[in-house]
Amino acid sequence: MKMKAGCSQLKPVVFILIFNLCFYASYQLTELQVCKRCNGTVLNDTKVGQFCFLSDGRVDGRCCFRNDNTTNPEHIIGLDLSNCSLSHVEDLQGASTVLIIDLSLNPIVNISDTAFQGFTELNYIILPEAIVCPGGNVSWDKVEISKGTRLCEGQKNMCNQTGHLSTNCPLNSLCAPYGPGFFECSCAENYYGYKCLRQGAFPTLQVFGPLGASTFVIAFLLWVTQRRKAKSL
Ligand SMILES: *[C@@H]1O[C@H](CO)[C@@H](O)[C@H](O)[C@H]1NC(C)=O
Ligand SMILES: *[C@@H]1O[C@H](CO)[C@@H](O)[C@H](O)[C@H]1NC(C)=O
Ligand SMILES: *[C@@H]1O[C@H](CO)[C@@H](O)[C@H](O)[C@H]1NC(C)=O
Ligand SMILES: *[C@@H]1O[C@H](CO)[C@@H](O)[C@H](O)[C@H]1NC(C)=O
Ligand SMILES: *[C@@H]1O[C@H](CO)[C@@H](O)[C@H](O)[C@H]1NC(C)=O
Ligand SMILES: *[C@@H]1O[C@H](CO)[C@@H](O)[C@H](O)[C@H]1NC(C)=O
Repeated sequence: MKMKAGCSQLKPVVFILIFNLCFYASYQLTELQVCKRCNGTVLNDTKVGQFCFLSDGRVDGRCCFRNDNTTNPEHIIGLDLSNCSLSHVEDLQGASTVLIIDLSLNPIVNISDTAFQGFTELNYIILPEAIVCPGGNVSWDKVEISKGTRLCEGQKNMCNQTGHLSTNCPLNSLCAPYGPGFFECSCAENYYGYKCLRQGAFPTLQVFGPLGASTFVIAFLLWVTQRRKAKSL
């Protein structure tokens, strides 16, 4: 009986490793897709081009990558999708690490409310004049209209606004910015579960922690199903 239990606990680990590999591969793929969404490359005389040059970045298609040999995978820090015939902006998956996005000169009619969810580093966005800044004016330090474009500069921290928003996070949790107009609540140390109501260290987190956040969710699901199985035996 004991041996059996030991064996079945190995399986999730293998499963999780494979899952993470797939996750990593798909991440790299989507990252490329965003860079190849339309023809051409980031030009030198554009805002993104200049930003990339000053940041010592590497241009690939419409993206600027940070030349950083310490982080893996490489991160997109600039995205220039201007003059791309975009009418709808729904997801820019793989680009959530960008600091600057140019969406000018596009016939945009709609930007999804969640398009920039998780874009915590985004600090400069260029839009057609008619499009409002993501999250509204309140989510930005400065909103400016100039030469047919709208510039949204300096993402505001939604956790630090006067009064209400940060109190939306339940007790025992911490508020963190999660893109323009968004915030995220994460459980404080030693709390977990729905609304962070459970207390105590969560052993799975320590065991699988280094494999990444995706692991955490899967490990949790497996733990629940295994436990249910064990109970029914
Ligand atoms: C881009 O511009 C910088 C100066 O702003 C220049 O030094 C660099 O050579 C240019 N790169 C290309 C590919 O034209
Ligand atoms: C990155 O690699 C280059 C050589 O390939 C090295 O000179 C540089 O110090 C490295 N940078 C970091 C941050 O490790
Ligand atoms: C936009 O792209 C078209 C071709 O795709 C090009 O002819 C035009 O000059 C571009 N406009 C600007 C402002 O770069
Ligand atoms: C834009 O998207 C919102 C929801 O995100 C939707 O309610 C609205 O009808 C859309 N407008 C157009 C013109 O597609
Ligand atoms: C947002 O800011 C822009 C530029 O300052 C301004 O034109 C616009 O009226 C503002 N929108 C709202 C809803 O306050
Ligand atoms: C939060 O707000 C306080 C006071 O308004 C300010 O001193 C602090 O710098 C802000 N922190 C961030 C991260 O914006």
